Amino acid sequence: MRACLRAGAPAWAVLALALFAAVLTTAAAAGDAAPVSPVVERANDPRRSSFDFMSPQTQAMQRDDTLNPGMLWVAAGDDLWNQKAGSADRSCASCHGDAKTSLRGVAARYPAYDATLRRPVDLAQRINRCRQQHQRAEPLAAESAELLGLQSTVAHASRGMPITPDADARLQPFTERGRQLFEQRLGQLNLSCAQCHDGLAGRRLGSSPIPQAHPTGFPVYRLEWQGLGSLQRRLRNCMTGVRAEPFAYGAPELVELELFLAQRARGMLLEAPAVRP
Ligand code: HEC
Ligand code: HEC
Repeated sequence: MRACLRAGAPAWAVLALALFAAVLTTAAAAGDAAPVSPVVERANDPRRSSFDFMSPQTQAMQRDDTLNPGMLWVAAGDDLWNQKAGSADRSCASCHGDAKTSLRGVAARYPAYDATLRRPVDLAQRINRCRQQHQRAEPLAAESAELLGLQSTVAHASRGMPITPDADARLQPFTERGRQLFEQRLGQLNLSCAQCHDGLAGRRLGSSPIPQAHPTGFPVYRLEWQGLGSLQRRLRNCMTGVRAEPFAYGAPELVELELFLAQRARGMLLEAPAVRP
């Protein structure tokens, strides 16, 4: 923790960090016994899905689709996929057919470069572009049941596939900004994402193990939320956690973080919809 203390840090920051350090304990026992995730099984790869940091009960809930509440959002998304909408009077299925086959692998590649917008878009933004351009309907609100349902349907179609970030060279400056954000200290606690998720992964913050922050499970059903949420919701939560003003849904900074996280998790397997504590 000493690395977090900077000369000249205001007294409140030192106090906050002392409090933060007090709740950190090493999860030694859990670490040794941690079962290897069914979704990342590479002996020499130190990267681990948050699945590996969860209790056996929560893991069992994710493993069994009849117990995984996230599957309810997939079912709702499948219904919506087939419903006509907008003045074009078309459903997603009218153009894309069966999502399980036509969109297999798509979620593993997002965020992707949008040549018209000349910037990256994440999956939610891509879905809303189809809503507006192709269905000629209103965009769906961030974190609405409808948008999360469609995100779940599209993400589920890539379950088990390796994260394969979009190779478009024009993404490079955006990914680089995402990396800088990940390493930048934020909020009143003056902590970076990297300090927790690279430096302290495997330790505990209060009762929560600190995971490595790989975006393999999103959208996730989070027990604490008693609902499903997107990666952007999770990133905003972590920002609030360090007492920083979170970026708005859809903000370029959040998409840049998503891009960097996808690069960092390249090759790890998607497990959406995952269950998280
Ligand atoms: C009128 C036809 C049409 C409809 C309706 C439509 N789409 Fe699309 N969709 C496209 C086309 C064409 C593309 C390729 C990008 C582009 O040209 O806009 C695309 C691209 C996508 C992609 C990205 C695929 C990739 O490989 O990057 C996703 C995800 C997607 N659509 C989801 C949806 C969803 C969800 C709906 C329903 C809400 C929907 N689309 C409705 C035509 C359609
Ligand atoms: C103070 C430490 C801390 C900081 C700083 C922090 N996080 Fe987290 N993060 C956590 C903890 C703890 C969890 C797990 C919470 C839980 O599941 O109860 C988490 C969860 C996550 C997850 C979810 C992983 C999964 O599989 O569900 C992602 C992604 C993530 N953080 C990204 C970030 C990013 C990006 C930043 C910087 C903007 C950040 N975090 C800053 C502690 C932190």
